[in-house]
Amino acid sequence: MKIKIAPSILSADFSCLDREIKSVERLGADMLHIDVMDGHFVPNITIGPAVVKSIRRITRLPLDVHLMIESPEKFVDSFIKAGSDMITVHIETVSRSTLERLKKKLSKQGVKFGVSINPPTPFSKIKGVLKLVDFILVMSVNPGFGGQEFIPEVLPKIKRLRSEFKGEISVDGGVNDKVAGALIKAGVNILAAGSYIFGAKDRKQAIERIRNAS
Ligand code: DX5
Ligand code: ZN
Repeated sequence: MKIKIAPSILSADFSCLDREIKSVERLGADMLHIDVMDGHFVPNITIGPAVVKSIRRITRLPLDVHLMIESPEKFVDSFIKAGSDMITVHIETVSRSTLERLKKKLSKQGVKFGVSINPPTPFSKIKGVLKLVDFILVMSVNPGFGGQEFIPEVLPKIKRLRSEFKGEISVDGGVNDKVAGALIKAGVNILAAGSYIFGAKDRKQAIERIRNAS
């Protein structure tokens, strides 16, 4: 599977988001990872559909919208309307029947559907929903903040997932050039990275180092 790099704008300078996004677009990003937090599911608040809508106007990159919110089904329509290409909800926040409804809605709208799983949540929680989704996003930090350290204990979960799932596997949290090789080997093909890319002196090199890690 093609390795795709998804810079997470959580670590960008929000006062010049336009310039920040265009910089990673020009330097080879494959998509843009957008972290939506509600202060309930995670202890932080970030951005909502209005910002996604503005971002949609200034970039051609696919928008990978990561919903770290309670009751995501209440907000999915606004994020579709805002121009999301991929929407991820957390397995910890939805029931099976909600997932089934979301899958139908998103595939009708041509939006890719992903489910995310937190580090302490066992593989058994997503095993039964693999057929419903286009991709799985494995969290490799406890969600809420950028700049945290990668949790290596998630690697066996990724390997297990790879052996049972045909779709794309994304990883998010603490990704840098040192851990990317092991992640790709374990079966990940989409790597979201915030502080490592936006904090780098040479962002192009940072993107390439993750892409080519072994
Ligand atoms: C964490 C977010 C991540 C975060 C990654 O809750 O979901 O997308 O921005 O940032 P880094 O790469 O700095 O860990
Ligand atoms: Zn994220």
